[in-house]
Amino acid sequence: MGSRLENFFLTLLVLAMAAYVAAELRTAWTAFVSPAAAMGAEGEGREEKPSPSPDRDLDLEIEDDLVERGRLVFEAQGCLACHNLDLTGNAFAPSLDNVGMRRSAQWLREKMLDPRGKLPGTFMPPYPHLEDDELEALVAFLGSLTPARPSPDNTGEAQIEIPTDEQGNPRFTPDQVERGKLLFQQQGCIGCHVINGIYPGGPVGPNLTHEAQRRRSDEWQLQHLKDPLSVYVINGAEGATWVMPAYSNLPPEDLEALVAFLQSLK
Ligand code: HEC
Ligand code: HEC
Repeated sequence: MGSRLENFFLTLLVLAMAAYVAAELRTAWTAFVSPAAAMGAEGEGREEKPSPSPDRDLDLEIEDDLVERGRLVFEAQGCLACHNLDLTGNAFAPSLDNVGMRRSAQWLREKMLDPRGKLPGTFMPPYPHLEDDELEALVAFLGSLTPARPSPDNTGEAQIEIPTDEQGNPRFTPDQVERGKLLFQQQGCIGCHVINGIYPGGPVGPNLTHEAQRRRSDEWQLQHLKDPLSVYVINGAEGATWVMPAYSNLPPEDLEALVAFLQSLK
């Protein structure tokens, strides 16, 4: 298990570097990620083909020159091999939607140079080869990812639709989904997450309006709620700073209700 995972992450690293040289990132990403996802990185329920994102070429309206240069660095360095800024799900790394809200420029700078300094055991690669001006531009770009520049899923109304299994039977009961919706408020999730049309929420975490479209498996959702770090890092992360709290203290039926609610956000 360990070495298969390591091989897998190594492949991603090589991929990220190849993108730097070849500027063929998107094609390569699709080719690599699809078998990886099929291998079970995302768990069951994930379709083989990662849907090409409408925003994959980062069609953001950027006026600031420095930020625009940072966007080019972001693309050239292959950050998109692991991260996304939109609705396309991936199991490797958190979406950077709104990362400018939750991290300072200094924190971001340090993270780029030494990811493990912020989070021991993370497989995010360091970027010490960046020129000073590239690093500053990248930090400016990341800092610009705030609600002022909403991510594509910051639009539209949430729809609740209970997902079904292969036989067409609902995977959750309406009661579970209702309970999950209530818990989402009671447990303070709304302090950090927006769900359009349901909870105005806060802009710190990713917008969850269409969370089901990220195609996380139920297991991923449950594990992420119990220990958010464990779904991104392989070696644990003592003393690390992370934003999303762990909800491992909730009773199993409450965790299930939250999963039911999240997976029903069409
Ligand atoms: C091989 C996969 C991979 C690549 C490539 C990668 N990252 Fe990461 N990144 C991760 C993982 C996993 C995490 C979550 C764990 C952590 O914080 O290290 C992360 C976390 C982050 C965070 C912290 C988010 C937060 O709120 O704590 C930022 C910012 C970030 N990455 C930016 C970048 C940028 C910019 C690039 C490209 C220069 C990049 N990453 C390339 C895997 C990757
Ligand atoms: C203090 C802020 C904060 C609170 C409170 C919080 N979250 Fe988060 N959440 C985040 C951040 C930041 C991320 C992105 C990093 C990550 O995935 O761990 C995140 C990520 C997520 C994701 C992953 C989205 C995806 O598919 O990539 C889900 C789902 C989620 N949160 C649900 C919840 C639920 C449910 C609660 C309450 C039980 C909650 N969050 C409470 C900050 C928060």
